[in-house]
Amino acid sequence: MREKIEALKKQKNAVIMAHYYVEDDVQELADYIGDSYYLSDMATRIDADIIVLCGVKFMGESAKVLNPDKKVLLPAADADCPMAHMAEIDKINEVRKQYDDVAVVCYVNSTAELKAASDVCVTSANALKIVKELPNKNIFFIPDQNLAHYIADKLPEKNFIFNDGFCHVHHTITTEQIKAAKQARPDALVLVHPECKPEVTAMADYVGSTSGIIKFATESDAKEFIVSTEMGVMYELKKRNPDKKFYTAGNMQVCPNMKKITMEKILHVLETEQSEVIMDKSLMDAAHLPMIRMLELAAK
Ligand code: 13P
Ligand code: SF4
Repeated sequence: MREKIEALKKQKNAVIMAHYYVEDDVQELADYIGDSYYLSDMATRIDADIIVLCGVKFMGESAKVLNPDKKVLLPAADADCPMAHMAEIDKINEVRKQYDDVAVVCYVNSTAELKAASDVCVTSANALKIVKELPNKNIFFIPDQNLAHYIADKLPEKNFIFNDGFCHVHHTITTEQIKAAKQARPDALVLVHPECKPEVTAMADYVGSTSGIIKFATESDAKEFIVSTEMGVMYELKKRNPDKKFYTAGNMQVCPNMKKITMEKILHVLETEQSEVIMDKSLMDAAHLPMIRMLELAAK
């Protein structure tokens, strides 16, 4: 199957991009692997006719918005992120009416419609930097409540308006699980993704995006880590750090949507070119601006 995929990639000038949360064999196959920010940024630099995006729907839409002339294929068309839908356009309009000086900041883990209604996009890797640089006093952060609280705590000069979205994978990790993992491995450092609840991030030795967690663990002198994010990240952590030990914080850290992408589905979309991301031009244009603004502000 791998040989067939490689041959089709060459023949069709296609590349495979994958998020760290997909299955290990898919990560191994990918030409580009990274967190949400890396995938968005890299999508603008790739010279290919086809991008096979191994991730959830919002990632495919982001790649398409940034590359309207390329064909973006989603191996699992039904791989959708529930959090991407956890905000309302009506609420955005309401907040805009209520506050003069407001920026609507949209975590990229959101639908293209929500991005289009926002002023700037962010990922967990650049949210703090970008929100800090915004001239606006009021920040309406959608859809994730936990990332919003993590940044709000660090920027007391801003007035945050919170939304109630959450990622079920990260939001369900508990302080009790971290405590139990810490008791079992007292020397381990606790690495937490900011999609976790504030009381969980408060227990962390390091808080950061998926790539941030990998970088921190790789550069750290510590030998053991408790990882409070989706399990898929273990593949890269162990690959880069064969002598270090990694433990999970709980036992529910699996994103079922990310795991829908398989080698079979990748081969199928490369053969058929089905499951293409198709979006209205007006929607793509509207979502393009906040995405580009993110890339520009993150690169500063
Ligand atoms: P990052 O890729 O920004 O770490 O976000 C994690 C995530 O939940 C992606 O779906
Ligand atoms: Fe969505 Fe959470 Fe899965 Fe990421 S890990 S795709 S935020 S449900």
